[in-house]
Amino acid sequence: MEILILHGPNLNLLGQREPEIYGRLTLDDINRRLEARARELGVGVRFVQSNHEGALIDALHEARGWAAGVVFNPGAYTHTSVALRDAIAAIGLPVVEVHLSNVHAREAFRRQSMLAPVCLGTISGFGWLSYRLALEGLVRLNSVQQEG
Ligand code: DQA
Repeated sequence: MEILILHGPNLNLLGQREPEIYGRLTLDDINRRLEARARELGVGVRFVQSNHEGALIDALHEARGWAAGVVFNPGAYTHTSVALRDAIAAIGLPVVEVHLSNVHAREAFRRQSMLAPVCLGTISGFGWLSYRLALEGLVRLNSVQQEG
């Protein structure tokens, strides 16, 4: 079982970017922690980060060929992108929308997600643990489905 961990715009700046909101871990720190957790769970993870909407769409399309699911932090595209919503709906894979911050406790425009209705679920507000919880949820769901 392999999972795509997909990071959207500005997440390459984690650690330096508004650390009071997003924490002090860098994207590499988070990816390393997720890789270690994935190893414990016996699954593979691949990481993609892009600041470009089209590249994120391409990564979702390519995931169809190999991934069992996607953990996706779409950054600000969460609140704007019909194209990403259509891509998620098109690929037919379980996608978990994740956010480091609690998007409901911030500006009003962050309360709306274009993507949430076509995602399996959303995890928001747990810092880097939002990603870990989403990974664990996808793995657990897969094993429950296999049990029947
Ligand atoms: C974010 C929340 C978004 O509203 C914001 O635009 C981001 C990061 C988060 O992880 O908390 O870039 O997705």
